[in-house]
This record gives sequence, structure tokens and C-alpha cells, in this order.
Amino acid sequence: MEDTELIALAKKAAENAYVPYSGYTVGAALLTENGKVYLGCNIENAAYGPTNCAERTAFFKAVSEGERKFSALAVVGGKNFDFKDYFTPCGVCRQVMAEFCDDKFRVLIGKNGDEYLSLTLGEILPYSFSSEKLK
Ligand code: THU
Repeated sequence: MEDTELIALAKKAAENAYVPYSGYTVGAALLTENGKVYLGCNIENAAYGPTNCAERTAFFKAVSEGERKFSALAVVGGKNFDFKDYFTPCGVCRQVMAEFCDDKFRVLIGKNGDEYLSLTLGEILPYSFSSEKLK
């Protein structure tokens, strides 16, 4: 799948964002090694703490369906569907990525228009704590 297609799916995923408190809409599209895509949006909560980020929604959907191998994640985020700036995943979501993906896992960050950033998990979460350390 082309990077731009995965980013378009992340924008589509953001349409379902449930954000009555922040109005900050986030969408994620997670590509498995077998070419399947899982979408995720952020889901907020009146108690704030239970809020789930879009990236984790996508990962947890996929992992709960038995998926374990991933090749890329596309994300977009912005107030009210306006993806004018590059949005970067929070630290908790980076840690969840590190549970299942290695340093080469690709994180594609889209915005309005066709431009995007292509980063790796190693770049956005260096010196990560992972299951390796527990062996
Ligand atoms: N959010 C995400 O969905 N992903 C992130 O990586 C950071 C933040 C959401 C959570 C909340 O609904 C809104 O963005 C504002 O923090």
C-alpha cells in the first residue's frame, strides 16, 4: 500500500473521533505485515483519564483480532478536522508501538494536502524500554 493511501485512511478514521471535550480530532491507520489495515480514532470520556488515543484504538483493535506484526502507522490530528500542522503521537502511544514493533516501524504523519513526514519508531522513541530488558 502507498504511504499516501494509508494517510488518506487515517483522515477517514478521524471522522469518527469522539471528542466532546477537546475538539481535537485524531485518526490512525495501522498497516499489518499482511496488508490489512485497522483504523482508530480518539475516544474521550467525561472523566478525562479513560480517554483513548487514536493510535492505541487502532493497535488494540488489531491486537485483539490476533494481529502481531505491523509495518506502518499513519496518523493525522488537529482541532475540528483541520490538520494544518504535523501531529505527533503521545509518549504512551509510542510505548504501545514499541511493544509490538521494532525501531524500523514506520510512522507516517499527514496534514492537509499531500505532504507528509515519514519517521521511524526508533527516531521518535529512542532508548526505549522494551520486553528485551525483561529477558
Ligand atoms: N490524542 C490522540 O488521539 N493521540 C495522541 O497521540 C495524543 C492525543 C487525543 C487524546 C484527546 O482526545 C485529544 O487528542 C487531546 O489530547
